Amino acid sequence: MALKVVQSDAPVGAEIRGVDLSQPLNENTFGAVEDAYNEHGVIFFRNQSISPDELLDFSRRFGDLQFNVFGEDHGLANHPGIVVISNVQEGGRDIGVKRAGQHWHSDMCYTANPPRGTILCAREVPHQDGLILGDTCFAATHVAYDDLPGSMKERLAGRRAEFDFSGRKRAQVISQEQRDRFPPVCHPIVRTHPYTGRKCLYVMRDDCTGIEGVDDEEAQRLIEALADHITRPEYIYRHQWQEGDVLIWDNCTVQHMAVQDYNLPLRRLMHRTTFAAEAPPA
Ligand code: SIN
Repeated sequence: MALKVVQSDAPVGAEIRGVDLSQPLNENTFGAVEDAYNEHGVIFFRNQSISPDELLDFSRRFGDLQFNVFGEDHGLANHPGIVVISNVQEGGRDIGVKRAGQHWHSDMCYTANPPRGTILCAREVPHQDGLILGDTCFAATHVAYDDLPGSMKERLAGRRAEFDFSGRKRAQVISQEQRDRFPPVCHPIVRTHPYTGRKCLYVMRDDCTGIEGVDDEEAQRLIEALADHITRPEYIYRHQWQEGDVLIWDNCTVQHMAVQDYNLPLRRLMHRTTFAAEAPPA
């Protein structure tokens, strides 16, 4: 079956059909997948049967693996680079990161070089009374930028937001050593996507602690206003998971949030990899 890209009704998100990720993709097929990824910001493949090693191989095609601090206690055994996201407990211990990503964010924005993208592979999806729970929402940051009034675009031009790993409230406990590893960093509020050239908003309510050169109160107001704007319903693709889904998102084009509407005994189990940003093709 030939590869087919089926766009969602939202400004981001597309299903890729006709690809078996358990087999290595040839250059042409991978090129088409990567083009769809750059274009749609979120792509997904249904009904995949992909082993942890195959997931790691596929992830490396997009960029070097990037290790997430939250994976340090919840990496998949013998597979460095795969983080387990789950509410499941075994032997009284959480087998994965619980309540990961329950606020709007872009992965590892607190690092100096945030990752290009993230892959989530659905192993178990919670269901209740025929309803699928545990969706993930993605907001299109380039469309949010394009829709800003010209006066706001001018106000934001050249501005940088501050991200402080220590300053953020988190569901997970963070050690002092982990805090020390990530000193505060600044990123442009308007990021130019390295592959598409689109301008994308890069501000998050829970991660940004300020704006360079702007007093605290005004900065907070602006961060909140932009965060509300980015997550307007019309910019959002909401992914309803099926077991066997492999989904990839672009950490510049979208922000994401995991909907936490399930609890044990309903089980959710995902494997996640993250890959680094590289120089775009010439
Ligand atoms: C995350 O933010 O990486 C978690 C997303 C999810 O579990 O749906």
